[in-house]
Amino acid sequence: MRVGVLTGGGDCPGLNAVIRAVVRRGVTEYGYEFVGFRDGWKGPLEGLTMELGIAEVRGILPRGGTILGSSRTNPVKIDGGIARIKDNLASLGIDALIAIGGEDTLGVATTLTAQGLQVVGVPKTIDNDLNATDYTFGFDTAVTIATEAIDRLHTTAESHHRILICEVMGRHAGWIALHSGMAGGANVILIPEVPFDLDQVVGWVESRFKATYAPIICIAEGALPKDGQLVTKDATLDAFGHVKLSGIGEWLAQELESRTGHEARTTVLGHIQRGGTPTAFDRVLATRFGLNAIAAVKDGAWGTMVALQGTDIVRVPLQDATRSLKTVPPARYEEACAFFG
Ligand code: F6P
Repeated sequence: MRVGVLTGGGDCPGLNAVIRAVVRRGVTEYGYEFVGFRDGWKGPLEGLTMELGIAEVRGILPRGGTILGSSRTNPVKIDGGIARIKDNLASLGIDALIAIGGEDTLGVATTLTAQGLQVVGVPKTIDNDLNATDYTFGFDTAVTIATEAIDRLHTTAESHHRILICEVMGRHAGWIALHSGMAGGANVILIPEVPFDLDQVVGWVESRFKATYAPIICIAEGALPKDGQLVTKDATLDAFGHVKLSGIGEWLAQELESRTGHEARTTVLGHIQRGGTPTAFDRVLATRFGLNAIAAVKDGAWGTMVALQGTDIVRVPLQDATRSLKTVPPARYEEACAFFG
């Protein structure tokens, strides 16, 4: 059996741990051969491959990023893209494909499965917004990095009696903001799922100053004020039609300065959240996903994705993961609200 492996979409700590586990079990237990596809769907689309054996995966467990490279290439939007992928896989003698990615990459994997290709999916995203799995690897690392940043912002905010705003990633789902804000003791957490009332935020900020502490606000990049609009970097869209976010933190700082008279500053964590070594939790989760993905290939469980449910790794239909996003439920947000102001 010759198995292709690719990583697509935004990178994520733990991708290399998945690749290592897939290859280690695949070669030693099942005697499979592997082909690494470079840069997401661009690899099978353009026939860009690399060697992928035991030697290539040595020492990569703690390394961030992906040895295969990644991209947001969307073959569904390219004329004849799916047919080219099918031809390239056939001419390379690929029997099965493991696609490691988020909603976009796995959406393409779902399309290919419907066209008869033998695909198994592995969920990844720091945003933790994929359905059918309790957690995606990379999320714990991103939350750990953001929590450390918030811890550091507390002390400088208090020295200068300033409002400090930490803008974290999360286009449609506020999981990173919710978890890092809770863990870091932010006084206000703003997420895309719940448009915020600026007057209420002003009230929370002022009550925090009255208690002689400085307010820390953790805001997701996709958060927006009631009756307001998403703040984007520019008008360009990526191949999956996503706008580039970031800027809501700076907008909020200006509004709060003018409404409260207190100085406000914003820190945008950006790609720092996605870089570097994965936490122990993410290494273990990614490793278990990899071991189970290659077992799914062995069992011919095409069109499935491995998922974490409770403490078990299970197989779910790919469509279950990509049909809709997993957003923060109101009850989870209400828990955090107990600490606002
Ligand atoms: O990986 C998902 C994500 O982290 C989103 O939260 C964020 O909007 C996006 O990636 C940024 O991606 P890019 O690397 O393309 O700027």
